[in-house]
Amino acid sequence: MAALLCGRPVFRSWLCRGALKGPGRLYRAAVCSELKQPLAVGELAPRPVLPHEVRVDVHFCGVNFADILVCSGQYQEKPHLPFTPGMEFSGTILETGTDVSTVKEGDRVIGVSHINAMAEECITDQKTVWRIPENLPLLEAATLPVTYGTAILALEHRARTQSGETVLVTAAAGATGLAVIDVATNVLQAKVIAVAGSDEKCKLAMQRGAQFSVNYSQGSLKEAVKQLVGSGGVNVAIDMVGGDVFLEALRSLAWEGRIVVIGFAGGNIASVPANLLLLKNISAMGLYWGRYQFQNFPVFSKSLNSALQYYHQGRIQPYVGKVFKLEEVNDAFLHIMQRKSTGKVLLSLK
Ligand SMILES: NC(=O)c1ccc[n+]([C@@H]2O[C@H](COP(=O)([O-])OP(=O)(O)OC[C@H]3O[C@@H](n4cnc5c(N)ncnc54)[C@H](OP(=O)(O)O)[C@@H]3O)[C@@H](O)[C@H]2O)c1
Repeated sequence: MAALLCGRPVFRSWLCRGALKGPGRLYRAAVCSELKQPLAVGELAPRPVLPHEVRVDVHFCGVNFADILVCSGQYQEKPHLPFTPGMEFSGTILETGTDVSTVKEGDRVIGVSHINAMAEECITDQKTVWRIPENLPLLEAATLPVTYGTAILALEHRARTQSGETVLVTAAAGATGLAVIDVATNVLQAKVIAVAGSDEKCKLAMQRGAQFSVNYSQGSLKEAVKQLVGSGGVNVAIDMVGGDVFLEALRSLAWEGRIVVIGFAGGNIASVPANLLLLKNISAMGLYWGRYQFQNFPVFSKSLNSALQYYHQGRIQPYVGKVFKLEEVNDAFLHIMQRKSTGKVLLSLK
């Protein structure tokens, strides 16, 4: 069997573990064969779909901060090496298993997969694909699962954000950050304070609907928020950075404020000073969106259905910052790691 992995030998048993559908048919995929090392692009043999599974012709795959963590061994989930990263996709159904009734060959879908989507095709459970309408381009559709799913669950399910409340969001010009701004302002009618690492990112966040912005590379976040909203503080904080940024966001909360911990992009995990929770009747909570898939599927599914519905109603406008080719997957990772990205970063498989 021909198998190319950027000139390096590959794990033959892994490449051969599935049966070929057509003689010699292979598909291209990003491959992580060593943690913290650049990915390779190789050709893999497809395996047969199980009765409840579908094979998807992937058009676009999201590149998330979490994919970088997975490939460096710093994520909650640690797949066995070698593996193909990628958690979400848009594309069309190529093949369905014998028990599949929800989608058929040719349907346009978005979906989530268990870390294998950075490839020309991927296999996933029929439960985790959603049909999309003809008027939703596959490019924009690929932005919906992780970032909008997370933004919707953070704001609606966890923080119970109300119309007129003030929402502070950190890493606000990133993929999840812009989705939070979009949902908070355009769906929930909340006011957003966007917190980001440069003036350009602040400007973008304002253009995408934030009412105020703070460049947190310049001085105290808490003081800047106080200048904007007074000592009353903000009702909701969505934090993706962690460390001191999390602590300053926590200290910026109003009476009965809610802070949702989404990530630790800055690399530091802060401890919560419990006295602050007591003094202002504050709630500190976490959100691990992907985990809902296994713990409470109806909630998980609702986040995707809501994203599709909001798009259909013209209430949200996903922002794609940059699209890379599969062969440029390492450049895409670097683009995010070096804090150069804004909005959603995608890989195009076409
Ligand atoms: N819990 C969940 O279910 C869930 C779901 C989605 C995402 N997340 C988390 O949310 C965060 C954002 O994810 P994303 O995919 O949307 O990425 P992203 O926000 O598009 O990119 C990461 C951003 O984090 C900020 N950042 C701060 N310190 C950084 C550092 N030391 N290195 C790199 N970036 C740094 C940067 O923005 P500034 O320059 O503005 O600081 C950067 O642009 C990540 O922590 C991710 O793990 C969690």
